[in-house]
Amino acid sequence: MKRFYVTMAFTVAAFAFAAAQLPAYRNASLPLEERVEDALSRMTLQEKIGVIHAQSKFSSAGVPRLGIPELWMTDGPHGIRPEVLWDEWDQAGWTNDSCMAFPALTALAATWNPDMALLYGRSIGEEARYRKKDVLLGPGVNIYRTPLNGRNFEYMGEDPYLASRMVVPYIKGVQQNGVAACVKHYALNNEETLRHQYNVVVDDRTLYEIYLPAFKAAVTEGGAWAIMPAYNLYRNEHAAQNKRLLNDILRGEWQFDGVAISDWGAVHDTRSSITQGVDMEFGTWTDGLSMGKTNAYDAYYLAQPYMELIEKGEYTTRELDDKVRRVLRLALRTAMDAGKPLGSMNSPEHAEAARRIAGEGIVLLKNDGGVLPVDLSRKPTIVVVGENAVKMMTVGGGSSSLKVRYEISPLDGLRKQVSTQGTVKYVRGYVGDVGGSYNGVQSGQDLNDSRTADELIAEAVEAARSADYVIFVGGLNKSEHQDCEGADRTELGLPYAQDRLISALAKVNPRMVVVNISGNAVAMPWINQVPAVLQGWYLGSEAGNALADVLIGKVNPSGRLPFTFPVKLEDAGIAPMPQLQHPADTVDVVYEEGLFVGYRGMDKRRVKALFPFGHGLSYTTFAYGKPVLDKKKMTADDTLTLTLTLTNTGTREGEEVVQLYIGDKKSSLPRPAKELKAFRKVKLAAGESREISFTIDRAALSYFDDNAHRWVAEPGAFEAIIAASADDVKAKVPFTLE
Ligand code: GLC
Repeated sequence: MKRFYVTMAFTVAAFAFAAAQLPAYRNASLPLEERVEDALSRMTLQEKIGVIHAQSKFSSAGVPRLGIPELWMTDGPHGIRPEVLWDEWDQAGWTNDSCMAFPALTALAATWNPDMALLYGRSIGEEARYRKKDVLLGPGVNIYRTPLNGRNFEYMGEDPYLASRMVVPYIKGVQQNGVAACVKHYALNNEETLRHQYNVVVDDRTLYEIYLPAFKAAVTEGGAWAIMPAYNLYRNEHAAQNKRLLNDILRGEWQFDGVAISDWGAVHDTRSSITQGVDMEFGTWTDGLSMGKTNAYDAYYLAQPYMELIEKGEYTTRELDDKVRRVLRLALRTAMDAGKPLGSMNSPEHAEAARRIAGEGIVLLKNDGGVLPVDLSRKPTIVVVGENAVKMMTVGGGSSSLKVRYEISPLDGLRKQVSTQGTVKYVRGYVGDVGGSYNGVQSGQDLNDSRTADELIAEAVEAARSADYVIFVGGLNKSEHQDCEGADRTELGLPYAQDRLISALAKVNPRMVVVNISGNAVAMPWINQVPAVLQGWYLGSEAGNALADVLIGKVNPSGRLPFTFPVKLEDAGIAPMPQLQHPADTVDVVYEEGLFVGYRGMDKRRVKALFPFGHGLSYTTFAYGKPVLDKKKMTADDTLTLTLTLTNTGTREGEEVVQLYIGDKKSSLPRPAKELKAFRKVKLAAGESREISFTIDRAALSYFDDNAHRWVAEPGAFEAIIAASADDVKAKVPFTLE
């Protein structure tokens, strides 16, 4: 035994000696900040300048002399983008980089289940790690302000509290893999039209209560190691060189210790980038117009031009050292983390995760007469209509576009699950976007069809007449002016004459289901003619399986809308984007509606939604008991507990999302009638009852006082509002704050 201890002692001594010989930055047993300072102290000026800007389309240089690795970034929020050529957007044609596509983040938000966000982040982080990527350029959490925004599908809806609760676990899951999440686009990038040129004018209350919370949660609770400033301007400064957003709020108020990575082409100036800009510059348009000159990385604003200003003595290395510290911290957390996991890609676990998240995100909007789930016991004939039943949706839409290992279409998913228990027929119904390529990735589908809309509608109506079920799968797609980066939609309605088709089908067959595949609200003029509607989202590789699971009832839908479906565009209460006077100008976008975005605006203007925020049905039913507060008065530093009993009064297991909103009955500043401050997704077996409780603290009662520049919980009368959606209030319980 003595020999053992002696051997151990020598071993420990040897390790300690070896570690002592390692330069501190290489010694994983030392504190992070010590390693950062040591590495910084060893770097030359040239090496420091080298690590704060891109060296290729998606990578930044390391310090070869010191063995500090280069850092590799990858899009996007829904899956790992295919490898691109060194200095190109086009894919490099590798044969090992097809990925798993997870559902779009609107679908994740629609699960209202933070456990799904953790599963999502962990899974996509494993794929990024396996592909040897150090930064995932996602998630996006810009608030859903207008239903026209081309990139709403990449974000988490209209409510800052829901987006905050869902983004934190996603980030933790990604970063467990030694991969940095890069939350984006910070901030106020709520539309795509003129995204490089619009200057947002918004009051501080709205900024702090609506547009910042999800980013703040990502940084202060999620511990995001990176953040991506947006293209647009705020207070007449581009977000990537914005004193208020980057220095005052992000690095000051939130004490962010990570890296601000510019959006690609978001940096426009050296001096402001030095003092109030990003820490890493990517994608700059070095030809001064809108594209990068080939391999002109030395011409980046934070490259040679910066070096020259330092050499001229106009700047010391003070700002540079802060940027480099942040980059080194990122490197030590990712590429240099010797203990990071191996990751994995296209695994059965990832397929299962994608299918589960998709299944939990699908929202049953309407189900009159219990048309759904499809009853297979009578070997039904099911006629599937619509381009989105077959169209690949993982290709296109901008930087979130992917090259997937596979994508199950709604039609294939349904055919597989119905199999011999029925007959599934397909008719096109309408022709929308027959394209199918992005950055050199081809969908491989030939959707061309020269028939006219009338011919297509006639064929579909004929097929639908005698069917037991008609399942229309339509909506939007990832083409420009649909759900796509770089441009917004121009209307709320469905494109490609779908409304006419849906009405024609409903006339000949009452057992009709509409599945809307979109990342945005759409108008539904035919809503009273159709008994059942599903919001299908962009569900990724497992789309068809997840949709079929819900359609045939294998999965009981439990999704809830993360944003409002207005009846018509004007009901959303958002002014249209103004026109540019001259191509090189900027243009003000004034957020006149202030706090009153989404359901907050619907309440204020007393406008009824087509389908409200938080809405979603189930194949079972739930009853809410009377909510009770443990006391009627609370002081600012204690909490209230609200309890209620929820019962599954239906015939099968299901999940309900109980929502708690707070209403401030009297406040010295205008406040929305109610604001989401807690929610709980509860799974109950048929007949099961369960008591659930919520804790109400002063934060839940507070508003941001922009004069005092702080959150204020004002004494007075409040209401705890228990609801199943923004329009389905179950009970209101008054209480007062002393
Ligand atoms: C794009 C997007 C951003 C993306 C980046 C790299 O323009 O705005 O979300 O991560 O450039 O593709």
